[in-house]
Amino acid sequence: MTNRASEPQASMDVFEAVRTLLAVRSYQDKPLPDAVVRRIVEAGRLTGSAMNGQPWHFIVIRDGETLRRLGALASSGPYVAQAPLAIVVATEKTRFAVSDASRAIQSMFLTAWADGVGSNWVGFGGLEKVKTVLDIPASLDVLAILPFGYPARAVGRGKKQRKPLREVAHLERYGRPFE
Ligand SMILES: Cc1cc2nc3c(=O)[nH]c(=O)nc-3n(C[C@H](O)[C@H](O)[C@H](O)COP(=O)(O)O)c2cc1C
Repeated sequence: MTNRASEPQASMDVFEAVRTLLAVRSYQDKPLPDAVVRRIVEAGRLTGSAMNGQPWHFIVIRDGETLRRLGALASSGPYVAQAPLAIVVATEKTRFAVSDASRAIQSMFLTAWADGVGSNWVGFGGLEKVKTVLDIPASLDVLAILPFGYPARAVGRGKKQRKPLREVAHLERYGRPFE
């Protein structure tokens, strides 16, 4: 493999975005431009899904009071309350919905990141009370709350705690070293 991280980049290409994307849990008190918000939501909408089912809804929250209420409900992500934007991802109760919506979430994260906007995945289902706050029908599940905002601290140098490639990648057969 080439070390693409050391190559000059004219703009953030896809690998660079993946390489540097990190979970961002604190945000500047600065609103996101409408065009950036729209691009993030579009990235979710445009994502491919099993049988093109698109079993998702993206509820865009910018109202401070609603963000605070969501933060109070998200035990694993109270920092949602400090974000200038959150997107709540609700899914149909169908077979591929979690896979499909997870893929859409990653599209939104990468699109945001390319615009300098940090985000994170908060919760994994079990967010029943969020439905009441946002008028989400009982026929849907709430998969995640995604807070977005400009990172409060410098991030994105690509320093990650990940298993080494040799532990997770295999060549031709399981157990044969990829590198
Ligand atoms: C399915 C899923 C659920 C997650 N849930 C939470 C969560 O509830 N709260 C949180 O702060 N981070 C959550 N995260 C973020 C992970 O903790 C984070 O991506 C991981 O620790 C790697 O961090 P890094 O990308 O900054 O290296 C979740 C991530 C995924 C993919």
